[in-house]
Amino acid sequence: MKVLVTARLPEEVLSRITCDHQVHMHAQDIPMEREKLLEAIGDVDGLLCTLTDRIDRELLGRAPRLKVIANNGVGFDHIDVGEASRRSIPVANTPGVLTDATADLTFALILAAARRVVEGDRMVRAGDFKFWAPLHFLGTEVAGKTLGIIGMGRIGCAVAKRAAGFNMKVVYWGRSRLGDEAEHELKVSFSSLEDLLRESDFVSLHVPLGPKTRHLVGERELSMMKSSAMLINTARGPVVDEKALVAALRSGSIRCAGLDVYENEPELSSGLAELENVVLLPHMGSATIETRTRMADMACDNLLAGLAGKRPPNCLNCGSSGAL
Ligand code: GLV
Repeated sequence: MKVLVTARLPEEVLSRITCDHQVHMHAQDIPMEREKLLEAIGDVDGLLCTLTDRIDRELLGRAPRLKVIANNGVGFDHIDVGEASRRSIPVANTPGVLTDATADLTFALILAAARRVVEGDRMVRAGDFKFWAPLHFLGTEVAGKTLGIIGMGRIGCAVAKRAAGFNMKVVYWGRSRLGDEAEHELKVSFSSLEDLLRESDFVSLHVPLGPKTRHLVGERELSMMKSSAMLINTARGPVVDEKALVAALRSGSIRCAGLDVYENEPELSSGLAELENVVLLPHMGSATIETRTRMADMACDNLLAGLAGKRPPNCLNCGSSGAL
C-alpha cells in the first residue's frame, strides 16, 4: 500500500514500513507545504503525520483511499478527529511514551526561570561576568514554594512527582479530580482555578488544546497571579493569550515565564523575544533520542495496524468495541 510520512523517521522505524509498503517520506525537517500535502494525500492508504500538518476536512475530502492516520505525537488538536470518524478513518497518537521527557523539560523551565539560568548564560557569553557578589543575580528558591498544575493528566502527574522531590507544595485544577488515594500518593490537593492562580508561585500548564482551553490563561487570569509568580507552558501555545502574557511580563504583573510552545508557532508575539524575563524554547518537550524513537515506533505500530485493517493500539476514535 502507499504511505505518506510527512517528516523524517529514524531509519530502523522507517524500514518497518518500507519492507511491505511503498513510502513517500518528506525527508526534510521543515514542515511539508500545505499544497504539497493536499496533492500527495490523493492516492495514499496510510498517513504518518506530525503536529505541523493540518489534517482538516479539506484534506480528508481529498483522501478517498485513506485507511489510517497515525500521528507522531500525543496532541491531536491539528486533526479533525470528528471528520475522520465520519469517514471511518481511525486516528491514533502516541500517549505515555513522552510523559517523562515532557515533565523533565517542564522542570528545566521551572528551574531556568526561577534561577535565571538563561539570563546568566547570556551574561557570561557577553563577557559581563566580572565578579561574584553576595547580592548579584539573585533568583527564587523552588523549595517550599507552591506549584499550581493546570491539567492533571499523565504529564501533570509526572510534574507533581518531580515537585515532591524538590519539596514543593502542589495544588492542581483540571477537568476531573483524582481519587483520594492518587492525591495522597502524589501529595497534591485539588483547588479551584481562581485559588490556584492566586496562591501559586509557579503555574504550569498541562491541558490539551480544545475549545474549552483556548486562552484559558488570559488577561484576567494573569492579573490574578502573584506579581512574583512564574508561568510555565509546555502544553500548547494557544492555551495562553500570548499578547496578554507579553503585557503582563512587560508591566511586571507576573515575574517571568518559561515557554516551550507559542500561540502561532513558530511565530512569536511582538515583543516576546525582547523580554529578559522569559525563557523561550523551540517546542522540544519530547525531544530526547529515547522518547522520539519510542514515539516513532508507536506511530508506526498504529499505522501498520490500520493498514492491515486492525484497530490501531492507540486509536482515539475507535470506541471500546473497535468500531468507528
Ligand atoms: C508534542 O507536542 C506532542 O503533542 O507530541
